[in-house]
Amino acid sequence: MCGIVGALAQRNVNEILLEGLRRLEYRGYDSAGVCLVDGDSQLQLRKSQGKVADLEARLAAAPAAGQLGIAHTRWATHGAPSDRNAHPHVSGQIALVHNGIIENHQPLRAELRDKGYQFTSDTDTEVVVHLIHSLAGDGRDLLAAVTAATDRLEGAYALGVISADEPETLVCARSGSPLVVGVGIEENFIASDPMALRQVTDRFIFLEEGDVAEISRAGITVRDKQGEEVSRPVHKLDGGHDAADKGRYRHYMQKEIFEQPAVVEATLAGRIGDKSVLSEALGARAHEILPEVQQVQIVACGTSYHAGLVARYWLEDWAGIPCSVEVASEIRYRKTAVRPGTLFVTISQSGETADTLAALRQAKELGYLASMTICNVPNSSLVRESELSLMTEAGPEIGVASTKAFTTQLVALQLFCIALAKVNGLSTEREAELVKALHQLPQLMEQFTGLDQLVQDTSEAFAEKHHALFLGRGVEYPIALEGALKLKEISYIHAEAYPAGELKHGPLALVDADMPVVVVAPNDELLEKLKSNLQEVRARGGQLFVFASPQAGFTSEPGVTVVEVPDAPESLAPILYTVPLQLLSYHVALLKGTDVDQPRNLAKSVTVE
Ligand code: AGP
Repeated sequence: MCGIVGALAQRNVNEILLEGLRRLEYRGYDSAGVCLVDGDSQLQLRKSQGKVADLEARLAAAPAAGQLGIAHTRWATHGAPSDRNAHPHVSGQIALVHNGIIENHQPLRAELRDKGYQFTSDTDTEVVVHLIHSLAGDGRDLLAAVTAATDRLEGAYALGVISADEPETLVCARSGSPLVVGVGIEENFIASDPMALRQVTDRFIFLEEGDVAEISRAGITVRDKQGEEVSRPVHKLDGGHDAADKGRYRHYMQKEIFEQPAVVEATLAGRIGDKSVLSEALGARAHEILPEVQQVQIVACGTSYHAGLVARYWLEDWAGIPCSVEVASEIRYRKTAVRPGTLFVTISQSGETADTLAALRQAKELGYLASMTICNVPNSSLVRESELSLMTEAGPEIGVASTKAFTTQLVALQLFCIALAKVNGLSTEREAELVKALHQLPQLMEQFTGLDQLVQDTSEAFAEKHHALFLGRGVEYPIALEGALKLKEISYIHAEAYPAGELKHGPLALVDADMPVVVVAPNDELLEKLKSNLQEVRARGGQLFVFASPQAGFTSEPGVTVVEVPDAPESLAPILYTVPLQLLSYHVALLKGTDVDQPRNLAKSVTVE
């Protein structure tokens, strides 16, 4: 999704901006651009469809330098990917980059056209730069013009704005899209994600909704949405978040799959004792809130939504607490009936997903008991705006396809479910059994990543396929959903997941010798039911690929490939069986030659609706 970087320093900031864009590449984008104010107070604009490398080539052909600049990676919403739609957009002496969507861009465009402004792009963003220009005129009080313009904007925005007439000032504003100010020594920066600036600073101000900031080399002044000057804290981020290195791996996704034993361990660290989940695991306020919880509403998107679906099985089974799970883009637009005592739980890797954040903000008006987020990014909007937060310790996830974020979400959710079950009568024996299994998880995870070669061999059967079906039953159904999502995301093979018992109600019609059917088959109480469903597939010539432990009693035969996985405690099966499915999609994508880390049309952090 779109990325913003800006800098004001006593040195040429061009390379700082480009490095920032490179660090944001993982988020997914289709064009990039930079605009600098040069020594003659002229705007130097360079833009290019394609990758940051294409922009660099353009800069090599037509160099630009300056001590003030803004840069952007664009993920197309209004208008196709192209040079002219790429940001920054310019009006007179003013240049602007924007993340988000301006919903009232059409009436504003008509109004500005009437004033004589000519549009050179199809974007909603260009409206904003002309609006600021119309309010400022070339070179007159950029801050006042940006502030006045934000009053006219509907929708979501993070803005970085410069004027060639004010080479000592960088102005930025946010509402609905994240933006941070990076604090340096006699130099300051802005970015949509702190990761873009980790090479120049470790100190950040997280702007709040409606903030407008005026940045000079020497200082930062922030005004809130009422125009009052406010003091926002400076956060020092620790050094462990610079993940812009693939190490010995070919892709970030591959690296992140293999990091899972370590990050799962990090997510458990300090949160479980020998036989119990430690009460501090969910934060200081958990002991007040958990006993009041009578129901749980989980809200998330994509892979994080699948994690929520798994948690529902655990919550209802272990805690006896009713749980609903819904995608954020749906729940935020329907009338919901909220029962007293309902805890609102969001799950998100990034903590910035626009739909999830909007659903949380709406939930605050609806009488929920409290809000909690399971999140991977400290200081993200979801963490800051939720009453409780349980951090996953996955470290930065760069591959667009979520892998280690998902399994660490499942670990954090399992801790949450056990903690809630404890205040709802979970026996100490059962808790000890679940915690004992969790202690084994990192080592078992290692064994499951060791299936790599076996899964790679299996992946060849998928390379020429156009469709695939994933089946699971019970708590493995969401894992089948996640396996199908991974395959479609990075290999572009159409994949669907069904609870195996639903086959005969429709999808069985799709099954023939060309349809690979992937089955998640741990040795649990539904195994025999699952086996009957698989007979239905075999009888129609379907090709089965069964992920099962030897104890499940499957054998490979013509039409049935068994990928034998290590035996594991039932409570861990959803977490562990995810790994070979991730590996499967990774190897199929390699065979198909797709862009594994930045699949087409997708963005890492979906900060627009
Ligand atoms: C997962 O592989 C996807 N890239 C996507 O579904 C993702 O999980 C979703 O956009 C939610 O993101 P979040 O966890 O950052 O909120």
